[in-house]
Amino acid sequence: MKIIKKISDMQEFSRQARLDGKRIGVVPTMGFLHSGHTSLIDRARAEADVLIVTLFVNPAQFAPNEDLDTYPKDFKRDRELCEAHGADVLFAPTPDEMYYPDQSVWINEEKLSQKLCGAGRPVFFRGVCTVVAKLFNITLPDFAVFGQKDAQQALIIKRMVRDLNFPVEIIIGSLVREANGMAMSSRNRYLDNEQRRNALAISEALHQVEKDIVTFHIHNKEKIMIAISKQISSAGGEVDYVSIYDAETLDDISDKSKRILIACAATFGKARLIDNVVLDLNN
Ligand code: PAF
Repeated sequence: MKIIKKISDMQEFSRQARLDGKRIGVVPTMGFLHSGHTSLIDRARAEADVLIVTLFVNPAQFAPNEDLDTYPKDFKRDRELCEAHGADVLFAPTPDEMYYPDQSVWINEEKLSQKLCGAGRPVFFRGVCTVVAKLFNITLPDFAVFGQKDAQQALIIKRMVRDLNFPVEIIIGSLVREANGMAMSSRNRYLDNEQRRNALAISEALHQVEKDIVTFHIHNKEKIMIAISKQISSAGGEVDYVSIYDAETLDDISDKSKRILIACAATFGKARLIDNVVLDLNN
């Protein structure tokens, strides 16, 4: 596996791969990889001739009060995991390589990013869209794989690709959970044992609601959101949001909705955790 740190070297590698007729797949990550990431890498490996994993903790998607400085890192382990899962290239640039100090062009998605995580993290999706667009221009992929754990991010990236005509297919890999049901996240690392037990309330509440809806056809949105919120707060979590939207548009659910997204974010200790379930209304 090649490790590339310079943008010009990465572009040259990808340009050559394209000239050779190879299908390039990219998996963008911020490192500290877990099984959620490796499942995305495996998914991409199955479809790519050339597989690039990017590792960049993107300063532009962190607000000043967020965890940029303490975001967990383990380059050696990430490198080993990428290699073990068959990556051909690990692209790991520095912030100085990625951003000019006076960068003045940014990508703003203006609708889907107003809700859920975007409401409380105003710079987040501007940072995500900008860095993903840059990574696409640097790695020149045919397709890119993102995780369903970040359901809103996945929708926004699809929208950016649609609206700005990026010639990149977006594939969404399933959300991967730990054996106890907790959604895998690099930020789970911030939890001590007690918080880890308590934070299970998030996935438990979402799965309870999933069962209730299937069994009792409860479509009372407010009641569902309050039940989830209560379960998380009684376990000691500080709820940022619990929301229910059409899973494709993030509009309120209507008769036309085919799938609904139930998503929440809550903080336990120092860890802001997000999780979601998608329900198919045709079932
Ligand atoms: O999902 C992530 O880890 C990041 O938001 C991404 C897509 C790598 C952009 O920095």
